[in-house]
Amino acid sequence: MDSMAGDEVTHATIIFPVVLVLLVAFLVRVQQRQSDLTRIPTVGPSRFPLSYIGAVQFLFHAERLLQEGYQHYKPSAFKVARFTRWIVVITGPRLVEELRKAPEDEMSYDATTDSKELTSTGIHVDIGHIAPLSTHLTRNLPLMFSEMRDEMVTAIGDAMPNVSATVSAIDASTEIFSRVCNRILVGLEVCRSPEMTVLNKQFLEGKARGKAILSALPMYLFIALRGRVNRVRSLIEPMIAQKPEDFGMFGKEYPHGILSSLIAADSSNPKASRHIADAILALNAHAIPALSLTFTHALYHLATASPSDVVQPMREEVEAAVGRGGWTPSALERMRRIDSFLKESMRVSGLHALTMLRKSRTDYTFSDGTHVPKGTILAVACAATHADPSKYPSPQTFDAFRFVQGSGQAASRYQLSTTAPDFLGWGYGRAACPGRFVAAVQMKMVLAHLVLHYDVRLEDGAGDVRPRDWWVGSERLPDLSARLMFKKRR
Ligand code: HEM
Repeated sequence: MDSMAGDEVTHATIIFPVVLVLLVAFLVRVQQRQSDLTRIPTVGPSRFPLSYIGAVQFLFHAERLLQEGYQHYKPSAFKVARFTRWIVVITGPRLVEELRKAPEDEMSYDATTDSKELTSTGIHVDIGHIAPLSTHLTRNLPLMFSEMRDEMVTAIGDAMPNVSATVSAIDASTEIFSRVCNRILVGLEVCRSPEMTVLNKQFLEGKARGKAILSALPMYLFIALRGRVNRVRSLIEPMIAQKPEDFGMFGKEYPHGILSSLIAADSSNPKASRHIADAILALNAHAIPALSLTFTHALYHLATASPSDVVQPMREEVEAAVGRGGWTPSALERMRRIDSFLKESMRVSGLHALTMLRKSRTDYTFSDGTHVPKGTILAVACAATHADPSKYPSPQTFDAFRFVQGSGQAASRYQLSTTAPDFLGWGYGRAACPGRFVAAVQMKMVLAHLVLHYDVRLEDGAGDVRPRDWWVGSERLPDLSARLMFKKRR
């Protein structure tokens, strides 16, 4: 007994000073980083250790702090505290353009990927594989259109089997987008596998609910997904290795040879098909939560929109567009109101308060004299830009047809998938979302179908107020528990 107590004392006497030294070294490093940035104004307490209060404030009130910084310091920069570092927030078109144009060897964008979370699931994350998959999908979109639509109609029918169905908005969205996206990625059989849908629901929960508890937690929630990731991978990998020509997006009918070029790039690697399967899983982990959360925000706007001023005009537009030759890519292009509705939803209820996350690889000075040392994390205030009255009159109003403007070429400036310094929902510049064209087509297709075939309202007893959004750090989540009533129209 005595010797065990002695061991505990010895461990404590060794561990405690080591932890203390590491903690002090960490705090000193944080302080050094802080002194490098003292010339940049701070929102919240700036002095160490009070800056930690700022980090706690950021966890709960990021949107307000960023809004405050944007109003005070636009068109320059300000900083906000996180637990381990500062984020320098760039505002105003001139500096945003400078950040966009900064070469990769000066501003890297490794900061954009959720690779740490994904790596903890055992997925091999290689953006060199993931981004080309998105580009391949975009190039083949017109060819894949009818397959996506077929899957969408079946998935919506399965999610809302009765004439009137009251369902969880987030669950229905995740199921629909998991199937539509994966129908073209991995084919009919795997896209309908319950394992695939459940994995995507868990990716979403890992991101959304995990962040709700503490921003450090998702990584641990993701570790719990290892088993399911392995099971889904074992559905995909053998199909790539054995019969690529029959497999989803790689099939012969889709040109641009994505599979052969990915395998050639990885030819010396015996794990090539494993890596491609993992690229597909990594793409799922980003694309399905992004699509489902974005679309759930839009569904809440739809359920509370005016039936005569918003829903009916969209319905008439869809009827006119498909009446001229059915459901085709060009019919979707003619749906300007549907496009604008989704874009306005992303403006008002976008998923991120910060975008264009970058890390300086060298000391860097902006044209207004703002100087950041090597290793600084920078970002652009997305939500505050979207709420700027000099860019959007009455920015707090959800104006469904705000972006129905111009005609011909001029109209494309206002399109859902177009990035701009004042529309940052997809990021902006070289690292802007390469899947945005696919995402825009899929969301438009689903919204147009729902508007045409269903009346969508909040569930009985929920009143007529849009379910509340909530912020976790710099992420905006829709209400994950709200249910909507979908009533089939004759
Ligand atoms: C509504 C749905 C979506 C939203 C809101 C969204 C948004 C974003 C944002 C904000 C970024 C980071 C941009 C930056 O740092 O500047 C991003 C990156 C990315 N997105 Fe999306 N995305 C969506 C759907 C998709 C889909 C469907 C795909 C693929 C088919 C996709 C593929 C990617 C990839 C590969 C990247 C990483 C690019 C890189 O780091 O180089 N996204 N997305």
